Amino acid sequence: MSENVYSPTPEFSSRAHVPSMDAYRALYEQAKEDPERFWGELAEKELFWFEKWKHVFEWNPPFVKWFAGGVTNACYNCVDRHLTTARKNKVAILWEGEPGDQRMISYQELHRLVSRFANALKERGLKKGDRAIIYMPMVPEAAVAMLACARLGITHSVVFGGFSAEALKARIQDLEAAVVITADGGWRRGKEVRLKDAVDQSLADCPTIHSVVVLKRTGSNVNMQAGRDCWWHELEANLSEVCPAEPLDSEHPLYVLYTSGTTGKPKGILHTTGGYLLQATMTMKWVFDLREEDTYWCTADIGWVTGHSYIVYGPLAAGATTVMYEGAPDFPAFDRFWRIVEKFKVNIFYTSPTAIRALLRQGEQWPKMHDLTSLRLLGSVGEPINPAAWEWYHRVIGGGRCPIVDTWWQTETGAILIAPMPGAVPLKPGSGTLPMPGVLPEIVDLAGKPVEDGKEGFLILRRPWPSMLRNIWGDPKRYEEQYWGRVEGVYFTGDAARKDKDGYYWVLGRVDDVMNVSGHRLSTMEIESALVRHPAVAEAAVVGKPHEITGQAVCCFVTLKKGDFDHDKLGLELRHWVGKEIGAFARPEEIRFTEALPKTRSGKIMRRLLREIVTSHTVSGDVTTLEDMGVITRLASQHDDD
Ligand code: PRX
Repeated sequence: MSENVYSPTPEFSSRAHVPSMDAYRALYEQAKEDPERFWGELAEKELFWFEKWKHVFEWNPPFVKWFAGGVTNACYNCVDRHLTTARKNKVAILWEGEPGDQRMISYQELHRLVSRFANALKERGLKKGDRAIIYMPMVPEAAVAMLACARLGITHSVVFGGFSAEALKARIQDLEAAVVITADGGWRRGKEVRLKDAVDQSLADCPTIHSVVVLKRTGSNVNMQAGRDCWWHELEANLSEVCPAEPLDSEHPLYVLYTSGTTGKPKGILHTTGGYLLQATMTMKWVFDLREEDTYWCTADIGWVTGHSYIVYGPLAAGATTVMYEGAPDFPAFDRFWRIVEKFKVNIFYTSPTAIRALLRQGEQWPKMHDLTSLRLLGSVGEPINPAAWEWYHRVIGGGRCPIVDTWWQTETGAILIAPMPGAVPLKPGSGTLPMPGVLPEIVDLAGKPVEDGKEGFLILRRPWPSMLRNIWGDPKRYEEQYWGRVEGVYFTGDAARKDKDGYYWVLGRVDDVMNVSGHRLSTMEIESALVRHPAVAEAAVVGKPHEITGQAVCCFVTLKKGDFDHDKLGLELRHWVGKEIGAFARPEEIRFTEALPKTRSGKIMRRLLREIVTSHTVSGDVTTLEDMGVITRLASQHDDD
């Protein structure tokens, strides 16, 4: 582990929202000692409320309410309230499409777009309490659709455009959604991603969907089903730009975002309104040290939680100019990100370790072609960042002058929970450093007993925080078991971590059957279920294998049914099959065919052993419960390229 420490420069600290360790500690202590007062004061100062709440929080473990009785609206906070300020004509969304097209949408313009589209949704009979699926490319209308839903109290669920029709269907069905908001397609590496076709395929068994609204983005031919499908521009053509924001309870469901868990079925993580918005807004200041004049760019896709909290809700609630880019970082060349940074004079840049490693590999000549001196702060999210990538990011992209905020959080946490406040906290490459105010992490064993500093254990959180998930959609039992039942009475993150002598947290990775590929969460079970749906597959076990760029890669061990199979051909077919069942980003890197899988005597697949095999090619741990040691010997003697 790198021992380098980077302290904030006096120049950076002097202008920061939180300018010193003392200031950080004071905030942290206030939140810890009197959370009610701390969050209550912030909610009053930072958000607009139609009516004030009765209680800051109500904690009936494992269920929590924040600002209960308070009446607010997320869209109103992100858009309307800026219109009476100098932000009225400020650029809210600064967008670039992959082909190079560009739009600058002011807060005033955003208000018009959102209000009109909200009226369009009303026109289709949608109302508060309904659910909408958003399956769109990274175009401003994706944010407009989210905000229009929020405006009316329609709970949205954004499905990443890389998910397949099958995955989309499962989400529509689980949510019993009434509408899909989509586009003909989007651009990715110069090719069209045909979204409407996938929607058509997914809708065969989705009786709850009565409307599909289609944005014209690529202009390609799509099938439109009369009565059900309508074009975005036609639907809103003659509609008014006046549509008041619906006053909603602070606990009104804002969105559901599906993420992978330890079973084959994705979990619909439910986030509500007031608390979520407050913590997303506060972290824009605490972590990104946002200033009024900044151009801020988070490169995530809005299909993931990072896009929700740090492209749309956090930045817009904080009145920022948020950059949105449609396409791939390497299209048409490896300098696309740096070209955009130079062009828009980006000050804050937030991306994933995978992107950093991929761009690092292409060499320094790409960033060197551009003037990156506008950058003031860099961020990292989604997976642990290795110190070598950190140092490169710091030196080559940040010119040695920009702090890097390594932000630890999860879909479930809604907002960043462990990260440095860059004007206050000295950085150690690879560590998320210290917790945000109101966050009480600890490293414990399974009995909930704290482990010594420096020792690895489970990362847990002791107290509910405002942007915490409220439930798993339709499955409170799973919510309780998964998050609050593993270690009695505390939130179980599913991550292993250690705390060093300075109290810094080092998150090491997942302890459950969840893989992290390019910062995307994938469940081993989900891929296994997809594999066994293939007629040739008898059984499958999936593990994450260390990968230089994507952190982990999907490695599948497969046993086949009786028959004569061409392994090379079938391997390719199975990779493609998983892509079709889940999405191209889940496509396995490797398929290994095997006669048998290592199992316990009770028949449970020992994935731990498989993980060891793909990591170190040997097995060192306890194998006393293994049924057939021969399986392991045979698997371990296989080489990666078998
Ligand atoms: O394992 C942790 C890892 O990503 C998981 C959460 O994934 P997801 O819900 O998809 O959200 C990703 C974006 C917030 C965590 O349980 N993770 C996320 N950020 C970091 C991280 N691991 C180490 N360092 C991080 N900064």
